[in-house]
Amino acid sequence: MASVSGDSIDITLIVNGAEHALRVGRRATLLQVLRHDLHLNGPKYGCGLGQCGACTVHVDGVAARACVIPAAKVQGRAITTLEGLGDRARPHPVQSAFIAAQAAQCGYCLNGMIMSAAALLAHEPRSSAQAVRDALAGNLCRCGTHLEILAAVERATRALADTARTPGEPP
Ligand code: FES
Repeated sequence: MASVSGDSIDITLIVNGAEHALRVGRRATLLQVLRHDLHLNGPKYGCGLGQCGACTVHVDGVAARACVIPAAKVQGRAITTLEGLGDRARPHPVQSAFIAAQAAQCGYCLNGMIMSAAALLAHEPRSSAQAVRDALAGNLCRCGTHLEILAAVERATRALADTARTPGEPP
C-alpha cells in the first residue's frame, strides 16, 4: 500500500528479485524510478509515449512499457529489467544470441528487442518466425538493423528449442 506525503509517495517495488522501499514523485513512472532511483540503465528512454519499446521491462513475466506505467501501480509485481535477465558471467540465451549475431548498430533499441524476445520465448520457446516478428513489431530500430535482430532471435529460439528437446526427439 502506498503512503502519500505532499508531492511524494512511499512505495515498495520488487525489481530483479530484490525489494526496494522508495520515496518517489507521485507521478513517477516505472522507467523514471528504475533509471533515476535504482540506477538501472538497461531500460532506455526513447519516446516516453509507449510507442518505441526502448523502455521495455517484464512485469510478472510479460513485456511492458515502463515509460507509461505509474510506479505506484506495480507494487507487489515482479519487475525484471535487462540487468535481471542475465549478466556477463551468465547471459540469458537471448543476450548470448544478440552478442553472437552482433545484432546492434547504435544499440539503443536493444534493451526493448531483447526484453520483448525473452518474454515471448519464455512463454513459447519454439516460436515461429512470424510470432517473433509480431512480438517485435512494436519495437522500433532507427538504424534499420531489423534483419540482424531477427536473426539473433532465431538463433536464441534454436538454442532454447535444443535445450527443451527431449533426448531422441527430432529437431
Ligand atoms: Fe517507452 Fe518509447 S520510451 S515506449
